[in-house]
Amino acid sequence: MKNLTLIGNWKLNGSKSSIQAFSNEWHGCDHPALTVAIAPPAPYLGYFAKTVASCLLAAQDCSAHDEGAHTGEISAAMLADWGCRYVLVGHSECREAHAESDELIGEKLRQVQAAGLLPVLCVGEDRHARESGTAETVVKAQLRGALLAGQSTALLVAYEPVWAIGTGLTASPEQANDMHAMIKSELYEVLQSEQDIPVLYGGSVNPDNARALFECAHVDGALVGGASLSAESFASIARAGINYLSH
Ligand code: PGA
Repeated sequence: MKNLTLIGNWKLNGSKSSIQAFSNEWHGCDHPALTVAIAPPAPYLGYFAKTVASCLLAAQDCSAHDEGAHTGEISAAMLADWGCRYVLVGHSECREAHAESDELIGEKLRQVQAAGLLPVLCVGEDRHARESGTAETVVKAQLRGALLAGQSTALLVAYEPVWAIGTGLTASPEQANDMHAMIKSELYEVLQSEQDIPVLYGGSVNPDNARALFECAHVDGALVGGASLSAESFASIARAGINYLSH
């Protein structure tokens, strides 16, 4: 039986009072094979950790630098200091808003590893690439552009087709599974390691579609945006994971 990892990405949402409300409704989701984390906006990392029990901490992004004159940036070591376990790198919204290159994303990824945390490398094609049949080529290039041959295998990958993020459209379980299988074989080739690297699916995951995704052989969990903002829907997704793991 595989393990599942569930990471909620709050993006530019949340406040002290919404974290308090989340905490009041979140009663934890205990299963030895399920890991659950939330990535609140960076200023709330400390408050979230203090307020919400039984949820690991993730960050949405980090600097490619370790220290120095980089106004506004947050280093991976600082995120480690706050108790983060995971750091997203290369989310499609960051790629687009900050014109991030694959090389820069790779540098961030290695900063996260150097700080002893687990990077979650986000990859995914846009609608044009999906429709023109180049989705695999795009995702392969994103992986190869960010990862160095033989580098540390301490990472996760999140496959998030851009056309499915926040749109209510989801990749079908077959589409997700096929892409995840391709990603795993690519990771195997680039990293030259038999280590099983978890590949999460992201893009409009909700309580209704989560179970079918978890059932896919190559899907090792989910990166959840909108549906992670309420403890109720995030807990339903976690319960779908526990039901799958216990079947
Ligand atoms: P969504 O976002 O679940 O709201 O589609 C996913 C993500 O961007 O990580």
